[in-house]
This record gives sequence, structure tokens and C-alpha cells, in this order.
Amino acid sequence: MKTELLKSTPENIKKAAKILKNGGLVGIPTETVYGLAANALDGKAVAKIFEAKGRPADNPLIVHIADFGDIEKFNLVSEVPEAAKALAKHFWPGPLTIIMKKGEAVPGEVSAGLGTVAIRFPCHPDARRIIEAASVPLAAPSANLSGSPSPTTAQHVMNDLDGRIDAVLDGGECSVGLESTVITLADTVPRVLRPGGVTVEQLREVLDTVEVDEAVLNRLAEGKTAASPGMKYKHYAPRANVVLLKCTDSEYIDYVNDHGGVGVAALCCDEDLPRLKNVKTVSLGKRGDYEAQAHSLFESLRRIDGYGDVITVYSRLPGTDGVGMAVYNRLIRAAGFEVIDLG
Ligand code: TXA
Ligand code: MG
Repeated sequence: MKTELLKSTPENIKKAAKILKNGGLVGIPTETVYGLAANALDGKAVAKIFEAKGRPADNPLIVHIADFGDIEKFNLVSEVPEAAKALAKHFWPGPLTIIMKKGEAVPGEVSAGLGTVAIRFPCHPDARRIIEAASVPLAAPSANLSGSPSPTTAQHVMNDLDGRIDAVLDGGECSVGLESTVITLADTVPRVLRPGGVTVEQLREVLDTVEVDEAVLNRLAEGKTAASPGMKYKHYAPRANVVLLKCTDSEYIDYVNDHGGVGVAALCCDEDLPRLKNVKTVSLGKRGDYEAQAHSLFESLRRIDGYGDVITVYSRLPGTDGVGMAVYNRLIRAAGFEVIDLG
């Protein structure tokens, strides 16, 4: 299959929408990461997403809408909880996904057989235009090959999926840089299943109680079922081996300098750069600037693989406050939960 790389023009938005209406797959920009979209109401079209990505069939997809009213209009959920209305008022359109009890129109391919469905109203103008032009909600996971870092540019999508999908719409670089925050309202207490651009602190300003699922910061305990199936997979991983260090800033510099050499890279902060010797360096941004680090994380992991000769990447555990929790969550998965504690 030939994959068309489309510039974001009104004609190309129409073209992409037509592909989607006809059951095809299109890589679309959102503010978080690029999504691989199909008509969410067409189970056959959705099944192609799993094939193109090599995604396990038990991992459900997020349904993207362009208006809060789409939830009822398309029968996506069986009931809209008050908490969902409050969250939508504060954070939609934007990088928040809300899980609710599934409505009848949602095919089993989208929900992977669960009784719930994840809904998101993205704020990227092209994402909104494409959903509107397609006039159906769009199911879309991140547009990477399953297991590799999520794509934050159209070129990343091409690198992973060229020849496997119909088209990619180039809407520029994603502003947030990592995937949306996922919160479930399908249990008694609202619970964050995946941290992202909307922080737990912000959610707690709107809802009285918000829990954070155990699997957000820890390896899933043996024998436990993941609340969010996507969280059980080693994820976001570059080909190079990511090693996380729990340490102070100077311990990090000393450790990496001691272990440096050919095949070693440091995924570090701006402030570390002058002191790191004998290793390739990729900076995530200023120390403590978690928005900047979130923005560049996946791009940096892809860049390290692009060097071709990096075997080990040393990074350090970020804090878990604010967007730091999302950076922590992605890094610890990229590292397969291996952390070296130097303290
Ligand atoms: O920012 C984002 O959310 C991006 C853009 C494209 O919107 N999408 C994205 O989709 O990250 P994906 O498929 O890569 O991640 C969706 C996550 C997975 O961990 C999946 O298991 C979880 O959400 N999920 C989806 N539906 C669920 C459900 N009904 N119950 C529990 N977890 C669900
Ligand atoms: Mg993904």
C-alpha cells in the first residue's frame, strides 16, 4: 500500500476524511502525539489499526470526538456521569481521556471486549477538523509500531507505518509530546490510569477525590490484572537499553562519566551537559521543567536510536509532581522498570 503524506490544507482534510469514511486508516496530528485513526463505529476499519500497528487485540482504543454532544449523538456511553461533565468543562478540548460505561454503538474491536470506553476531545485544530469532516468519531491509538516510542511528528509516523496505512496528515510537531491523561469514572472512585499533560493536582481541583492507580508508578504485581491493558506492556522503548538511576545530580554525572565510552548515551538535563564526558548526550530540557521534558521525551528516545550505535542510555528518575508523573511513568516503562538506586 502506498502511504500518502498530506500537508494540512482544507482539500487534504477532506481527502483524509473521505479515506476514513471509506474504512481506511489515517495518521492524524493531535496536541499529545500522532494518532492512527479509523471510523470508531466501523469494527472492520478498527480491526485494521491492530494489524497495522501489531497491537495486541486485548488493548482497547480511545474514541476521539469533536464536540461534547457527540457522546450522546453517537451513543458512545450508556450514561454520562456528573464527574465527566465537570472534567469536560475544565479540560476539554485537551489532553484528557475519560473512561465511562460503554454505549451500544461502540464495536467490540474498540473496547477490546471491556464494558467501558475511553473518550477524548482533542484540541489540535487539525484533529478537530478531521473528526468534523469525517462526521463520525475516530478510534485512534498512538500512531507508532506497538512497543516503540509514540510519534510526535508526521515523519515519525512515516518511519513506523509507511506502506501499512493509507495516509498521514502533517499538522506539525505535537505541543504536549506525550499521551493524554487517562482517568476512569467507571469505578466508584475516579482513578488515573495513565498520567499525561493534565496533572493529578489539576484533576483534584475539579473532583473531590482522585486516586492514582498502583500501576502508574510501579510494576504491575504478579498475577494482577491491569486496569488499563496498555499498562502491562513494556512500552515506549527505544532499541537501546534504558537504565534509570535514582541519585543526586552529582552522583548521576559521576556514574555516567565512570561508565561512559562507545555505545553509551546520557538522556540528561541542560545543566548536566558541560560536565558529561565521553558519552553522547541528549538533553530533555532544563532540570525540573517537566513540561519541556515531556515535550522532548519521545523525540529524544527516537534520536538516540537514530545514532545507530547506542547500546545503553542512562537517565535519572524525575520527580512525580505535576507533569513529572507522566515523564516518570513513560521512562520507567522504557526502562522495563529497572532502576539502579545509588543512594
Ligand atoms: O493522547 C492520546 O491519548 C493518544 C492520542 C492519539 O489521542 N492516544 C493514545 O492511545 O495514547 P493509545 O491506544 O496509545 O493508549 C490508550 C491507552 C492504553 O493504555 C489503553 O489500554 C487505555 O488507554 N484504554 C483505552 N480504553 C480503555 C478502557 N476502556 N479501559 C481501560 N483502559 C483503556
Ligand atoms: Mg500507545
